[in-house]
Amino acid sequence: MSETAKKTILVTGGAGFIGSHLIEKLVQDEDNIVVSLDNYFTGSKDNHIAGATYIEGHTKDIAKLIDFAPDLVFHLGEYSRVEQSFDDLQIVWESNKNGTFAVLEFCRKHNTKIVYAGSSTKFGDGGLGRDQSPYAWTKATNTELVRNYGTWFGIKYAITYFYNVYGPREISTGPYATLIAIFKNKFKNNEPLTIVAPGTQVRNFTHVDDIVRGLILIGEKGEGDDYGLGAEEGYSILNIAKIFGGEVAMLPERKGNRMGAPVDSARPRNELGWCAEKRIEDHIKEFVKNNS
Ligand SMILES: NC(=O)c1ccc[n+]([C@@H]2O[C@H](COP(=O)([O-])OP(=O)(O)OC[C@H]3O[C@@H](n4cnc5c(N)ncnc54)[C@H](O)[C@@H]3O)[C@@H](O)[C@H]2O)c1
Repeated sequence: MSETAKKTILVTGGAGFIGSHLIEKLVQDEDNIVVSLDNYFTGSKDNHIAGATYIEGHTKDIAKLIDFAPDLVFHLGEYSRVEQSFDDLQIVWESNKNGTFAVLEFCRKHNTKIVYAGSSTKFGDGGLGRDQSPYAWTKATNTELVRNYGTWFGIKYAITYFYNVYGPREISTGPYATLIAIFKNKFKNNEPLTIVAPGTQVRNFTHVDDIVRGLILIGEKGEGDDYGLGAEEGYSILNIAKIFGGEVAMLPERKGNRMGAPVDSARPRNELGWCAEKRIEDHIKEFVKNNS
């Protein structure tokens, strides 16, 4: 009987929120050899998963840091905040432009398939969202670059789009904390939930387990663009605060903050049988029950 060939999978951003959940799932398959490349900008060694190998470094140095040819690259290791990206432009450029270029060149050299973690911000406000912040612009234009690498050089690729991901290990403190994590902390401390005006902006919060299930299917079978991974149900931020209950405090409007983005999960649904199974509402209600 022939032995199943081992598959080497590189996850950039493997010490981050989504990357660590992805790795947790990937290492469960003993035929996978899983390696993370992370510079610990927002990632943490606390997110390391037993069974994976961790290499510390910036994606722009990938050619020097990774001395093997992986079978698959999940490219998640980018700067990942919308409003803060105006203040962090240099870091955004280094990671999302120089870094991603280097990752694409690496994939071209090794003939490795890349799964790119695109963002729903590209579709915000009727397509205008793609230009609303440095973050959104780099993510949207990177999807074009990945696609062009497919056309120009024939590299194998799949482009996914995540919609406001939540779940365990999302960043809960400091300038890069996520909305759900901030609301949870404020709820626990009996503080008003702070909402950026107008509050009617809608988000399709999607659980990280659903995202990871989609990513793994897309890694195996996805080809090309348009793999939107988003929960169908949208919630305004005011509505999310209402589900938590308690007081709210309004904050002034912020640059880059889009009103909403349509979800298009037709490709993962029709080709891969994927759909988001978890609901943010249930997640919050469970949290409130356990913390009241
Ligand atoms: N969380 C969301 O709601 C969401 C939505 C859309 C798209 N995405 C994309 O998914 C990916 C993962 O997001 P996340 O929520 O897990 O964020 P995260 O900040 O928790 O994870 C990103 C990880 O990448 C690492 N990283 C950043 N720049 C790097 C670089 N140049 N070289 C090596 N490592 C680098 C960070 O240290 C971190 O560990 C990102 O590309 C993000 O843009 C996330």
